[in-house]
Amino acid sequence: MSRSAHPAGPRHADVLPEGQYSAPPTDLNALDSKVWAETVTRDTDGVLTVGGIDVRRLAEEFGTPAYFLDEDDFRARARSWRTAFGDDADVFYAGKAFLSRAVVRWLHEEGLNLDVCSGGELATALSAGMPAERIAFHGNNKSTDEIRRAVEAGVGRIVLDSFQEIVRVAHIAQELGTRQRVQIRITVGVEAHTHEFIATAHEDQKFGIPLAGGQAAEAVRRALTLDGLELIGIHSHIGSQIFDMSGFEVAAHRVVGLLRDIRDEHGVELPEIDLGGGLGIAYTSDDDPREPHEIAKALTEIVTRECDAARLATPRISVEPGRAIVGPTAFTLYEVGTVKPLDGLRTYVSVDGGMSDNIRTALYDAEYSVALASRVSEAEPMLCRVVGKHCESGDIVVKDAFLPGDLAPGDLIAVPATGAYCRSMASNYNHVLRPPVVAVRDGEARVIVRRETEEDLLRLDVG
Ligand code: LLP
Repeated sequence: MSRSAHPAGPRHADVLPEGQYSAPPTDLNALDSKVWAETVTRDTDGVLTVGGIDVRRLAEEFGTPAYFLDEDDFRARARSWRTAFGDDADVFYAGKAFLSRAVVRWLHEEGLNLDVCSGGELATALSAGMPAERIAFHGNNKSTDEIRRAVEAGVGRIVLDSFQEIVRVAHIAQELGTRQRVQIRITVGVEAHTHEFIATAHEDQKFGIPLAGGQAAEAVRRALTLDGLELIGIHSHIGSQIFDMSGFEVAAHRVVGLLRDIRDEHGVELPEIDLGGGLGIAYTSDDDPREPHEIAKALTEIVTRECDAARLATPRISVEPGRAIVGPTAFTLYEVGTVKPLDGLRTYVSVDGGMSDNIRTALYDAEYSVALASRVSEAEPMLCRVVGKHCESGDIVVKDAFLPGDLAPGDLIAVPATGAYCRSMASNYNHVLRPPVVAVRDGEARVIVRRETEEDLLRLDVG
């Protein structure tokens, strides 16, 4: 996946002889603004603060582990995507990155739309007042019940992912006496430079309908003949945590090629294209993500150029950023437990969470940064591995990190850039309770997703 997810360089501890890690940062107390939420800073005592609140106070009030989300930063990022694309395009926040009712309200207020991909996400969106017409419904295996609920609610679009689904959605819409606006998700055959598990536009995987072999054209043919469907456009999502725009360029070229073929065959110019999400964020100082205005400019130019060449009117563009909006806005705060130096290797720092609140390191070999949060220290850097409390040796939160040599049980450490795909992929492994998400803004902190309790766990266990 990104440079940070594939630590192929000299930071990869496992392939290097002892002592050959890249040099520790000169100042372990410094905070690289690339990876931290906008309002995170150190106060005069050196304690990390977010939204003006000291993390020791936050830990006392909300416990650890916990995700702290900078609401102003979230809103600013959402707004900057919205502004960058302007009124001729639509921004759908991808709810899978992290969704809660508060987030839905912020998105609504900031003028964004929402991409959901399950009945649960749809229910969350509707219950927080997102207008149904601003919702896109995704998924490679939507159930009949989910489709029915989406059509009944009046979602703005359903993104069709298979031939079977084309028929299924058409039938349900007809049964309900309506015409459902739909897009068809195609796979354009692009190899996105990202981790295999989150690349989605090559042909040998479960999403979308391949452009190759005329399958996408055949899907369009069928959709155009069904009364229950109003085909509004073509969708392509090439993968996630991508820095290189060339994949989007190829995707746009091929999607526009299909629009041209559709015009030539059916005399219809589809009015919309969706280029999905997937823009990368900084997990470490080595990552250099692009700003929304650069992305908007690049994508708009590509589509306009391709459409001009095909003599098509430029369709309305939509995008679906998830990680790029929420990822950088939160950090996870942990309390340090056992500190175990292993001679000649590294020091294992155990925290009170782990793979249940951040599965990304175990699943994608993702890289993260970490900082001592409850104080500053002038102690020598020590090479650490931050690990969780689960019964797995793969339970790693930060694979290679330098922390001060005087780190001790009771210290608080913070892992930045955990806003996306951490709480949303959290589990109850080992019956560990999922942490809360606390939104912080202007000196005030409020729980937006509460901590799970043992009662919650036992309530499900009805045997
Ligand atoms: N649109 C569609 C159709 C998607 O499938 C996704 C992500 C997005 C938009 C948003 O992508 P983003 O902008 O957040 O990259 N769990 C993995 C990422 C899986 C992404 C799944 N689809 C991770 O933690 O890296």
